[in-house]
Amino acid sequence: MKLVRGASVRLRHGAAAAVAATAVLALAAGCAGSSLDQPAAESSASKGAAVKVGLLVPLSGVYAPLGKDMKNGFDLYLDQHDGKLGGREAKVTEADEGEGPQTGVPAATKLVQQDKVAAVVGVVNSAIALGVRNLFDEAKIPLVIANAGANDITGSQASDYVWRTAFSNAAVNEAIGATVAKDMAGKSVYILAPDYAAGKEQMAGFKKTFTAAGGKVAGEQYTPFGKTQDFQPYLSKAERSGAAAVYAFYAGAEAVAFVKQYDQFGLSDKMPLYGSGFLTEGGVLAAQGGAAIGIKTSLHYSNQLDNPENAAFVKAYQAAYDASPTVYSVQAYDAAAALDKALKAADDESGAAIAKALGTVGEIASPRGPWRFGANHDPEQTYYLREVKEQNGAVVNAVIGELTN
Ligand code: PHB
Repeated sequence: MKLVRGASVRLRHGAAAAVAATAVLALAAGCAGSSLDQPAAESSASKGAAVKVGLLVPLSGVYAPLGKDMKNGFDLYLDQHDGKLGGREAKVTEADEGEGPQTGVPAATKLVQQDKVAAVVGVVNSAIALGVRNLFDEAKIPLVIANAGANDITGSQASDYVWRTAFSNAAVNEAIGATVAKDMAGKSVYILAPDYAAGKEQMAGFKKTFTAAGGKVAGEQYTPFGKTQDFQPYLSKAERSGAAAVYAFYAGAEAVAFVKQYDQFGLSDKMPLYGSGFLTEGGVLAAQGGAAIGIKTSLHYSNQLDNPENAAFVKAYQAAYDASPTVYSVQAYDAAAALDKALKAADDESGAAIAKALGTVGEIASPRGPWRFGANHDPEQTYYLREVKEQNGAVVNAVIGELTN
């Protein structure tokens, strides 16, 4: 906890300096804009008009609870800012991404072509993010991804129009590989994840740093996504492999079933469970309860983080929704913050100007700790080592350290 408290002090000073610098720059940019680029009257008129924003999250399917957290985080930011983004009234149109590209692509297409939104925030599922990438790139409308970790979205398929306030599937898992290898001291792990883009990429990220640090993989299996309710055949195979531990990625309803069955089959005592933090995040942790105790994960957030931004965020979120925030809430809250700053800074209302301005927003003083967009449009951020513990009668993701590769 000392480490985290240290980070929060650095954060406070850094954030204050960044706020001051941003204020000076904004002032300078505002003056230059009104005196040189366009008549002042025109600029204030365009700044007064409402801005249409699309919120594309799962409202149905296995990831629906994640979508709810994202909506809550996005709405909280708006509530705290008089319903405005970039000083303009925000008109939000919601759309359901569902469980895959077959539902996600048409929903995104409607937002862009029919509703004519200025930007879209959201997307939980990697396969959907990959499926909608060309739509946004070709329409020149910014997409601020507030979850989906698909590596290529900020890699081989990067676009000027696609930004991400979340993580890449590789990064979140690469962060913990060496730590697990050290814990294993030469013993092997078994790998389990859902059989779709994110499952494969998350495990590849883990294997990369785990094996580089001397870790051994006893075997791996990818379970049918959204359809697997009974994990017993996979868990039996993991046990028979002789591995000393399991590393997994599951989220939403699948994470609840997986962790509960892992415990019911008596594996928690025999084979420690590690994973990316989605495995024990938010509502799923409440549903897993005691079955999750001892699981160690990597993530860029825990609602247990000890910093002033998180303290204020957790308090406001609890007051608004009578629930604790999750990484999904923070990613959407920060997407609203980034869009707010970008709309303020944009030269005009075009998607091109907004996308360009996203590159100028600088440091975001977030509940996760300070972060900024890197050159590839992904956050440069800290990953935390978390362990599920029981504290004051509740199960929580206690922060037990920071992860460095
Ligand atoms: C993804 O599909 O990229 C994904 C979905 C749920 C998560 C994390 C990543 O919790």
